[in-house]
Amino acid sequence: MRRIHLLATLALLLGVAGGQPGRTGLSEDLAKLVRGSGSSYGEAILKQTPDQALCTAHKNRLPADVVGQFIQEQRSAIKYPKDGRLMGDWKQGEAVFNTLARGNCFSCHFGSPLNVSGNVGPSLEKYGQRGTSEAVQRYTYEVIYNPWAYFPCTVMYRFGHNGLLTPEEVAHVVAYLLDPASDFNTKPALRR
Ligand code: HEC
Repeated sequence: MRRIHLLATLALLLGVAGGQPGRTGLSEDLAKLVRGSGSSYGEAILKQTPDQALCTAHKNRLPADVVGQFIQEQRSAIKYPKDGRLMGDWKQGEAVFNTLARGNCFSCHFGSPLNVSGNVGPSLEKYGQRGTSEAVQRYTYEVIYNPWAYFPCTVMYRFGHNGLLTPEEVAHVVAYLLDPASDFNTKPALRR
């Protein structure tokens, strides 16, 4: 998104967006893309939720005078599984964690015994060593449900908050990370 925006700005400066693609040597196709990206970028910005708008306005680094209230609002919107259990079934969590179109956790986090992983986020290798106390379960659940409650404006998806996963599915992923019987804790992480 940012790259396209920069491209659009650059093209505007060069006069391409005004409809003279030949002048700068940009191909018709690229000029069309640039003209199109300008308005969709604007549209995406205008449609932001207030919290996303705040992150955008501060380039994802919230100042001290707003961060407290921001975190409080993110936390108070967290919903929990109906049965109150924050640790579900690790096998179901395994499927969510390791599926691109579901959790896609492995693309950002190292530690999965099933997938070669990315390093956008911190390594989760041996995450279960933290134990299964209620505090650890709660932290893990809440971070997955809505990471902005702990890491304001982070790139990690807000799985529960944005309806990508149900509270029960989040609890299954918590179990995948914390259950001592989970393959995540009993098997070595897959290395390149
Ligand atoms: C787009 C990348 C991305 C994806 C996808 C992602 N995360 Fe994260 N995650 C991060 C980043 C980055 C952080 C660190 C937060 C920060 O400092 O901004 C993080 C932090 C965490 C933490 C806290 C780590 C700690 O040591 O306390 C946990 C737990 C976590 N993620 C679990 C998950 C799980 C489970 C999934 C899948 C359901 C997932 N993440 C998907 C990027 C991602």
